[in-house]
Amino acid sequence: MTIRIAILGAGPSGLAQLRAFEAAGKAGAELPEIVCYEKQSDLGGMWNYTWRTGLCAHGEPVHGSMYRYLWSNGPKECLEFADYSFEEHFGRPIASYPPRAVLRDYIMGRLEKSDLRRCIRFNTAVQWVEYSGETGKFSVTVRDMKADELSTEEFDYVIVATGHFSTPNTPYFEGLEQFPGRVLHAHDFRDACEFTGKDLLLIGSSYSAEDIGTQCYKYGAKSVTFSYRSAPMGYDWPDAFREVPLLLRVEDRTAHFADGSQREIDAIVLCTGYQHHFPFLADELTLRTHNRLYPENLYKGVFWLDNPKLIYLGMQDQYYTFNMFDAQAWYARDVILGRIALPDAAAMAADAAHWVAREEAAGDPSAHIDFQAAYIRDLVGPTDYPEFDIEGMGELFKQWTRDKQADILGYRNKSYRSTMTGTLSPPHHTPWMEAMDDSLEAFLADPDEVQEPVLRKSA
Ligand SMILES: Cc1cc2nc3c(=O)[nH]c(=O)nc-3n(C[C@H](O)[C@H](O)[C@H](O)COP(=O)(O)OP(=O)(O)OC[C@H]3O[C@@H](n4cnc5c(N)ncnc54)[C@H](O)[C@@H]3O)c2cc1C
Ligand SMILES: NC(=O)c1ccc[n+]([C@@H]2O[C@H](COP(=O)([O-])OP(=O)(O)OC[C@H]3O[C@@H](n4cnc5c(N)ncnc54)[C@H](OP(=O)(O)O)[C@@H]3O)[C@@H](O)[C@H]2O)c1
Repeated sequence: MTIRIAILGAGPSGLAQLRAFEAAGKAGAELPEIVCYEKQSDLGGMWNYTWRTGLCAHGEPVHGSMYRYLWSNGPKECLEFADYSFEEHFGRPIASYPPRAVLRDYIMGRLEKSDLRRCIRFNTAVQWVEYSGETGKFSVTVRDMKADELSTEEFDYVIVATGHFSTPNTPYFEGLEQFPGRVLHAHDFRDACEFTGKDLLLIGSSYSAEDIGTQCYKYGAKSVTFSYRSAPMGYDWPDAFREVPLLLRVEDRTAHFADGSQREIDAIVLCTGYQHHFPFLADELTLRTHNRLYPENLYKGVFWLDNPKLIYLGMQDQYYTFNMFDAQAWYARDVILGRIALPDAAAMAADAAHWVAREEAAGDPSAHIDFQAAYIRDLVGPTDYPEFDIEGMGELFKQWTRDKQADILGYRNKSYRSTMTGTLSPPHHTPWMEAMDDSLEAFLADPDEVQEPVLRKSA
C-alpha cells in the first residue's frame, strides 16, 4: 500500500521537503503519495509580503511578519541551496544582501518547474491533527478556505513545516493601555514611512529590533530608542540611536526605564520575538520550546521522540536557514523511504539530550555558529544532499558578525564569496542606506542605468 505523507506549510521548509522527494524521484525512487497543505494562496511562506495584519480574508491569522523594504540580514552566500546556486537562478552573480523579493524569487524558482507543485493545496488551513495508535495513522483535518469546507484525510507521516516566527510574544508594560501613540508587535510592522519624523521606542535587542530600528531611521524616523531586557546590542550607533535598559512603565508619552532615565516617544514596537505555536496539534504531539538552536524532544532536531512519524522542520533558532532545512528534509525523506533506520527510543532520546547539552555549553555567537554547522554536518553525512562547505559557510557567518560590529548601517554593502560556486559577489550598485527601492527590478538593474538615490517605493 502506498505511504501517504502530509506536509503542513509550503514555506522554505515545506518546499525543501518537496524538493528532497523530487530529487529521489528523478533518481528512480518510487515516491510516496504527498499532500502539502498551505493556507496562503502561493508558496514562499514568510517571504510572501502581505499588507494585511490580524486576520486574513478568510478569518485565519495572517502568517506574514515581513515588511516592506526588508533586505536579507545575512549574506545570501550563507543561505544558498547546495543543489541550486544563486548564479544558476539569476544567470549571473548578484550582490550579497538582496531584498525580500529577490530571495523569494530564488526560493520559489527552485520549485517552479517541479512536478511536485501539483501536490500543494493552496488556501487550505490545517485545523487539527491527531494520531491513532490503533490504526498507526494520523488524521489531518483541513479547511478549504475558499469553499469554507472541512475535510479529513489519513496519513502515515505528518511533516510540520509551519514556521515559528508568526505568533507574537507580547509582554505587557504598565501604562500601555493609555499610551496615546501606536503600540504594535514587529509581526504587524509593515511600512517604515509611517514613522518618519517620529521618536520610536523598540523593546528587544535582537534581529527584529535592530532591523526595524535601522530601517525606520533610513526612512526618516527622528530617533530610535532600544530597550533591552538582558543586554544591549552594543553597536556603534549614530547619534539618533540610544540603548537603554528595560521599560518600566509609560505615563502619557513618557517612557520610564530601569536605569531611571526617561524619554518622550511617539510609538512603541514590541520586538520581543515569537512563540512556537501549533494550535492544530493534539497535546501529545505538540512541540513546546523557546527559540533555541536545539529544541528538546526532537531526534536529529526533527523527529518527535514520542512518535517519530511526526516530523518537525525548521523549528530551530536560525543562523543557517535554507540549506539547513534542506539537510533536515533530505534526512527525513531517507528515513521515510527506508534508506536510514531510526535507532530505538532510548538511543534517540540519548542522542537528542547530547545535542541539547552541547548547545547549552556553547557560550557565544561563534560557538553557536559552530554548533549549527556541526548539526548540519551530522544530518548531511548519511544522505545524498550535495556536499557543501558547511564550515566555510560558518566562517562567512563569523565574518558577517564582525562586519556588523564594525558598521551596523553599512555591513550590507559588503561582498562575500560563494562556497558553492567560488564566485565573489559584485558590490551592489547603491549603498544600502541610499537604496530606497527594494524591488527585484531595482536590485537587478544595470549599474549604468541606476539614478541614485533610487527613491521609488515598492511593495
Ligand atoms: C521578519 C523576518 C525576517 C527574516 N529574514 C530572514 C533573512 O533575511 N534570511 C533568512 O535566511 N531567514 C530570515 N527569516 C527567517 C525565516 O523564517 C526563514 O527564512 C524561513 O521563512 C523559514 O521557513 P519555514 O518554511 O520554516 O517557515 P515559514 O516561511 O514561516 O513558512 C511556513 C508556512 O506554513 C504555512 N502555515 C502556517 N500555519 C498553517 C496552517 N495551519 N495550515 C496551513 N499552512 C500553514 C504558512 O502560511 C507558511 O507558508 C526571517 C524571519 C522573519 C520573521
Ligand atoms: N531583515 C531581516 O532579515 C530580519 C529582520 C527581522 C527579523 N529577522 C529574523 O526574525 C527572527 C526573529 O527575530 P526576533 O528579533 O523577532 O526574535 P528573537 O531573536 O527571538 O529575539 C527576541 C527579543 O525579544 C526580547 N524579549 C523577549 N521577551 C521579552 C520581554 N518580556 N521583555 C523584554 N524583552 C523581551 C529578547 O530579549 P532577551 O535577549 O532578554 O531574551 C530578544 O531580544 C530571526 O531569525 C531573525 O533573523 C530577520
